[in-house]
Amino acid sequence: MNNSSFLIITGHFFNPHSAVKWDNIPRGALCFNERGRIVAFGEKDDVLKEYPVGRYCELIDHSDSIIFPAFVDTHLHAPQFHCRGFYSDNLLEWLENFIFAEEEKFASSAYASNIATELFKELVSFGIGTASIYGSVHPNATDILFAKGAKTSMKLAIGKVMMDRSDYETTEESISQSLDLYEKWEGQNNGRLRYSFTPRFALSCTGKLMAEVGRIITGNKALCQTHLSENVGELEMVKKLYPDYENYTAVYGRNGILRKGTIVAHSIHLNDDEYRILSASGCGVAHCPDSNMFLHSGEMNLARMQKEGIPIGLGSDIGAGSTLSPFNSMKMMIYSHGRSDIVPETAFYYATLGGAKVIGFGELTGNFDVGKDADFIVARKPRRVPEGADNIRQILSHLIFCNGEHHVRAVYLKGERVH
Ligand code: GUN
Ligand code: FE
Repeated sequence: MNNSSFLIITGHFFNPHSAVKWDNIPRGALCFNERGRIVAFGEKDDVLKEYPVGRYCELIDHSDSIIFPAFVDTHLHAPQFHCRGFYSDNLLEWLENFIFAEEEKFASSAYASNIATELFKELVSFGIGTASIYGSVHPNATDILFAKGAKTSMKLAIGKVMMDRSDYETTEESISQSLDLYEKWEGQNNGRLRYSFTPRFALSCTGKLMAEVGRIITGNKALCQTHLSENVGELEMVKKLYPDYENYTAVYGRNGILRKGTIVAHSIHLNDDEYRILSASGCGVAHCPDSNMFLHSGEMNLARMQKEGIPIGLGSDIGAGSTLSPFNSMKMMIYSHGRSDIVPETAFYYATLGGAKVIGFGELTGNFDVGKDADFIVARKPRRVPEGADNIRQILSHLIFCNGEHHVRAVYLKGERVH
């Protein structure tokens, strides 16, 4: 141990490794350095032996709390922050009736700036330390999102929405504005800010634009995000617009968009070939169960995704989702799949490490591996929990089903208390 300072947090820890593997450490400790990097994690006695409390090592005792990794939201729309809960029974009407008009307000930098401030404040208050965010079509507003995001301790992937099949922009403008933002922001904040190329979906983009995005991201690690196969009406229109493609997934696949580092949201109505394309590509899926129920989109086939080994993370998809709360997303995931193996611990994996891997921040956050950022949430334990080795399930269950956001006592990102 050298002479720099360390902070130790003690408490009851939940540490996810996969959808079926996690640590439950009732008397645990997490130690991190002044750069917010984890240096030790495990049983309290073991950590304290390695890092004894003293002049360079302070301890904060949270032994009456449950501590778990900060959340990850793999899919949300910043300009829809104030446009939630507007009823429609299908995606395309909802976009036309409410969303496009709302997003146009982001043409005003002052408006975009106010929303960005509110958005990041709310994300952090829910314990969300990492997110993949769609901006609007406006490059200025997206630049503002980055600038505001850069002042938080969050890990963020953000992109200007590309929609050249509209009056908003030409293909050339869409590409050159996106490239400018990529040059400016990619890798800033020590790799914690990433640019994500964001062709909105096949209906708002031309084949030419998608092929160009595919060309740009091929051969490097650039990120990309889009929507896939959310709604049956959308599917019908994709068939009409892209008659030369065998299916919706192939529209993205054959244009080079699907690969590791790309997130496709929803991915509900897929055939066998499409699952195979996704699986072979290495891309991840943003699963947004609250949004899928709200817009009557249908239910993503979680079992099939898992069987094919397709990486999955949870997303709020506001404004089609009703809240940024990851506790709500987990609840909706469990409700909508009605499967006995989607237990609270599994839902927490998809809301933390699963999501971090999907966005491309899996090496930096999502659990308490040594070397990662100390991103975590300290929450009040429910007063009454059944005794026994299994109680982590009931503690997490109580948080998921009883508005866990009200139990959050503190949020730490990169070792700094931010809420
Ligand atoms: N597909 C294309 N754009 C959107 C959007 O803003 N929200 C959702 N849920 N689906 C989309
Ligand atoms: Fe969306």
